[in-house]
Amino acid sequence: MIFLFFVKLSSGGKYMERVKTVVLVLLAALLGAGIVFAAQPEASREKGKALFNDPALGSTGKSCNDCHPNGKGAKKAAAKNDDDIARIVNGCITHSIKGKALDVNSVEMRSLVLYIKSFGEVKKPAAPNKAPVGC
Ligand code: HEC
Repeated sequence: MIFLFFVKLSSGGKYMERVKTVVLVLLAALLGAGIVFAAQPEASREKGKALFNDPALGSTGKSCNDCHPNGKGAKKAAAKNDDDIARIVNGCITHSIKGKALDVNSVEMRSLVLYIKSFGEVKKPAAPNKAPVGC
């Protein structure tokens, strides 16, 4: 009983401590969530390029780049849609380099798709300085 009374008395003074603790815990949770969000891996052309050159994608010791140096032979796929490119990539992974097909929504696959699409980018010459027709 005496103990309970003591706790009751002192709890008034500890109220702010508790509030502080709750605020700190909330802040830590928010920060943690922020870090997790920031660490979410994003697909990028650079990652795709690294994978394209990585023999670890398969089991034959060859990388995509060994057969397609700088995208050679794979360029026509650049104009296709993402799903089709992903299917082609998985076909090449499983057949050409005897690897395991990638999840089509994985960061790895999306990165490879981004990289393959970049093969289709042709530098356009500067627009000719002509007056518009019909003026
Ligand atoms: C052992 C050689 C070899 C390796 C390794 C290889 N490919 Fe291919 N790939 C080919 C051949 C052969 C073709 C067919 C070329 C053609 O149709 O002109 C092809 C075609 C392609 C195409 C174009 C298909 C189309 O229909 O437009 C893409 C894209 C492609 N490969 C991506 C990859 C990727 C990504 C990898 C790595 C996972 C890879 N290739 C690894 C040999 C290879």
